Amino acid sequence: MSQKETIILGIESSCDDTSAAILKNNAILSNLIAGQKVHESYGGVVPELASRAHLQNIVPVVDDAMKKAGVTIDQLDAIAFTKGPGLLGSLVVGTSFAKSMALALDIPLIDVNHMYGHVLAHFIDDEDKPKPSFPFLCLTVSGGHTQIVLIRDHLDMEIIGTTIDDAAGEAFDKTAKLLGFPYPGGPLIDKHAKNGNPEAFEFAKPNMKGYDYSFSGLKTSILYFLQKQEKENPNFIKENLDDLCASVQRSITNILFKKVVKAAKDLGISEVAIAGGVSANSEVRSRLQEEGKKRGWNVYIPKFEYCTDNAAMIAIAGLYMHKAGLHSDQKVSAQARIPFSPILRTSEK
Ligand code: KG4
Ligand code: ZN
Repeated sequence: MSQKETIILGIESSCDDTSAAILKNNAILSNLIAGQKVHESYGGVVPELASRAHLQNIVPVVDDAMKKAGVTIDQLDAIAFTKGPGLLGSLVVGTSFAKSMALALDIPLIDVNHMYGHVLAHFIDDEDKPKPSFPFLCLTVSGGHTQIVLIRDHLDMEIIGTTIDDAAGEAFDKTAKLLGFPYPGGPLIDKHAKNGNPEAFEFAKPNMKGYDYSFSGLKTSILYFLQKQEKENPNFIKENLDDLCASVQRSITNILFKKVVKAAKDLGISEVAIAGGVSANSEVRSRLQEEGKKRGWNVYIPKFEYCTDNAAMIAIAGLYMHKAGLHSDQKVSAQARIPFSPILRTSEK
């Protein structure tokens, strides 16, 4: 007899995207995201506006995800939601919605660490794409985090390197702001970099111990460089935009991979993945391929839709927690900062 299917509703609302997904075993039936244009002109996410937009979006997004998947509420086995880390007001919307729906349907509720979601997105079925084998390393790079994670099992992960100041996504977005781009500027740097020379300009390189990162020195060196150049030529940015974008992107990519290469070498690991919003960057993706070829790694690059924030990744993390019996009760609450300790050591696969 075939095993019973597991159908999970995933909800993600940690920052400025309201997302809902339906997962059937490891396959995604729907994954809808309502973005928030309201922040563009502010140069960053405005928390109060974000939570208001989540409130407006959550019901239609969940409803549409269920309809698109062709799933009715009585078919749901569990609801997984992002507990944190993220913006508290935004998290509260998804958390309250998930709690109420699970209570009304009398089904298990699963609170997911957003960063686990980014990593576990690699276990979503995607045609014949292979999944990483344990142990593997994952460079998890987003607007809020930059981590090298050692993954021993689905629910057993350890951060071995992290940023002491800005995240890689912030380095992209803050530089983009200096160059005059709206928020989030990371994808625009990527776009302009395609026509630029990555060797045109050189910026400060951090000198961090172990596997840790720092991006504040890079940001400051770019700021001072631009100020100096603009004094001599007020059109400097405009005239060199593509080269500036390509050089910034090259600097950030070099910083990121220097530590990944070191970690893989030191730990003798040849399974290497990337995850998070910055893993959508074309140079970060191609560099992982290149390093993989050069060093004999098996590399894992998520589909674009699973790089930036999405509920599919929360649903898949929820599936592994559900199988391990890791449910939460109605007392669970959103948490802006959340420790990244192994959820459990399990042989559950
Ligand atoms: O994972 P994510 O959607 O949200 C957080 O959890 O933070 O990541 C968003 C970050 C932003 O900083 C955005 O600029 C960056 O990912 N990003 C990119 C690209 N696409 C998204 N950065 C560089 N190149 C891209 N193509
Ligand atoms: Zn994220």
